[in-house]
Amino acid sequence: MRLQKDELKSLIKNKLHAAGLSEEHADTTADVLTFADERGIHSHGAMRVEYYAERIAKGGINTKPEYKFEKTGPCTGIFHGDGGSGHVAATLAMDEAIQMAKENGVAIVGVRDISHSGAISYFTNQAAKADVIGFSVCQSDPMVVPFGGAEPYYGTNPIAFAAPGKDGKMISLDMATTVQAWGKILHARSKNESIPDTWAVDKNGEPTTDPFNVNALLPIAGPKGYGLGMMVDVLSGVLLGLPFGNKVSSMYEDLTEYRKLGQLHIVINPAFFTGLMGFKQDISTSMQELNNIKPAPGFSKVFAPGQNMDIVVEEYMKNGIEIVNDIVEYLKSDTIHNNQYDHKGAFAK
Ligand code: NAI
Repeated sequence: MRLQKDELKSLIKNKLHAAGLSEEHADTTADVLTFADERGIHSHGAMRVEYYAERIAKGGINTKPEYKFEKTGPCTGIFHGDGGSGHVAATLAMDEAIQMAKENGVAIVGVRDISHSGAISYFTNQAAKADVIGFSVCQSDPMVVPFGGAEPYYGTNPIAFAAPGKDGKMISLDMATTVQAWGKILHARSKNESIPDTWAVDKNGEPTTDPFNVNALLPIAGPKGYGLGMMVDVLSGVLLGLPFGNKVSSMYEDLTEYRKLGQLHIVINPAFFTGLMGFKQDISTSMQELNNIKPAPGFSKVFAPGQNMDIVVEEYMKNGIEIVNDIVEYLKSDTIHNNQYDHKGAFAK
């Protein structure tokens, strides 16, 4: 079913507000989720609303958090999330980082004790829109086998990076350090589709094509993706004194408890290096040069990272955002949640 962006955002906002989030927090959270759907990142959009609503309703997301920004040095700080919406905390923390980098050239802000924050390019794009470079990493629950291992240790630990070009354009990379994000498995489940055998393993550690048989995800490029997952865990977990590795709280284990996830934003101000105008010009030039590269067989065009989503945004703006029917029905219903996520474990069916 197709929905216009405003309608989708308002349905999500109303549901999260009905579940207990303040209107303001519901609005920001809905904005982050709509941002994802609008780009075709359906794994981190409206599909997650029922899970959030259940967690909010059961007390596992603080609806009245005392967010606090603690400046720990000229260019560093910690944003205390107090168990509140991760989407809101990460947005506010990025605002602080941007301001600090505008003044000092660079900023590193840790965000601690938050719940899930969604598609993290929302925050790095926030930086690029403010004419600074954004880099962000965050923890997620343990569901990835380390290279050579048969049990999960790290999460899908995503990395996002965005740099501003001219005329509002930007390069924007946003990726899980797994072959696919867990949400993509959920999306395949919601559409009853099989998955490629390179994404995940079953309980015996064998590759599986059945999204309902997934027991752990595979890191990208073997030991290299495993190493990137480690880097994310060190920067957004160990560095902030938070639970790390397989002690990171599970998304589905206990929906009555606040999660204590960590995220780290690094912001760099080009004005303190090569100069803003030259930097933006060069980013735009490199995007153009990439677009001019001769496409390989089977490809129509080379995109700069993130540019592939511009086409999705354009099409959705024209024709509405495609959302799975069941999800739209839920969003339009009076049901807050169907009690289906609590104590289920990440890979529950
Ligand atoms: P993906 O595999 O769909 O895309 C990865 C990157 O590749 C994106 O930057 C995309 O723009 C780029 N890309 C894809 N096709 C391209 C093309 N043809 N040309 C140029 N660039 C191209 O993303 P993935 O790894 O499935 O992650 C999905 C989302 O899941 C992300 O938004 C991520 O932040 C989110 N996530 C969030 C987590 C959390 O705990 N908050 C955990 C894991 C993932």
